[in-house]
Amino acid sequence: LATRDFIDGLPKAELHLHLEGTLEPELKLALAQKNGVDIGQSTIEEVQASYNFNSLASFLAVYYPAMNVLQTEDDFYQLALTYLKKAHQENVRYAELFFDPQAHMTRGVAFEAVVNGFYRACVDARAFNVDAHLIMCFLRDLSAESARQLLEIAKPYQAKILGIGLDSDEHHNPPLKFLREYGDAVAQGYRITMHADIDQVDSIQHIQQALEIIRVERLDHGTNIVENPDLVDWVEQLKIGLTFCPLSNRLVADDMKDREVLELIDHNVKVSINSDDPAYFGGYINDNYEANTTKNDLTIDQVVQLAKNSFETAWISDFQKQTYL
Ligand code: ADE
Ligand code: ZN
Repeated sequence: LATRDFIDGLPKAELHLHLEGTLEPELKLALAQKNGVDIGQSTIEEVQASYNFNSLASFLAVYYPAMNVLQTEDDFYQLALTYLKKAHQENVRYAELFFDPQAHMTRGVAFEAVVNGFYRACVDARAFNVDAHLIMCFLRDLSAESARQLLEIAKPYQAKILGIGLDSDEHHNPPLKFLREYGDAVAQGYRITMHADIDQVDSIQHIQQALEIIRVERLDHGTNIVENPDLVDWVEQLKIGLTFCPLSNRLVADDMKDREVLELIDHNVKVSINSDDPAYFGGYINDNYEANTTKNDLTIDQVVQLAKNSFETAWISDFQKQTYL
């Protein structure tokens, strides 16, 4: 069995983490006070008590209002740098980080404040040896038109953004809603991934659209894929990464999806372990590794394979991969 000490010491890549999901109660209260934003809570205990959800929708209903405390470029910088220092402590060497510009622009924050603050933190993290990059997400419950406008607005900043993702409420918002915008993103040179949150309505159809039609390079969550052996073969053969988030699944879907992950490891699928929204779901990356290891009695070899998968499915050159593996 792999111990917590072993997990802590293992070099890892983080591929599924929402920067807005790293907003800890302490920073949330400090920013609320600094910016004069009324969040309806004034103590850590009150904030923690509000972190009460049992579904993706009930989580998102807490998650978006919390973002009101993020107002200036420095606020975004501080949020991301705080996370990156934590990642460094956990031996994360490489990170691709989601952010949701539309969630800030719809409440009057400029795109450039968001991207410049987050990007500056990624640059500064190089000083402590974390190589971090940004993945800009479309909010799938907003229109395709809104996603298209975001791609336009992001054009002058493209050098600061590695890829495009898709998150937020999946119900009635299938991948194909964004077919054209994903095509444009690829043509512009972005890498592409998207969420296929587990246990959603039409989950397998969504995964199929993402893989066969949009042709994503990774799938975020997506472990429901075990229901369809043909799709499992597809991701195995194309070496498409699945970014699995055990603690998130346990809270949002009441199921850590541990059996599915064992099956995927057995099928040589490049599944990795990640944190999703660690301030909300009760743990950062090493807690996620530990939770899954304990549940499945994972061997050292299996845990090493999961960490290797995180580097192998990162959007880096083969040369850079070899420096980590
Ligand atoms: N936004 C932040 N975390 C998310 C998740 N797990 N699924 C969908 N949207 C999200
Ligand atoms: Zn996510």
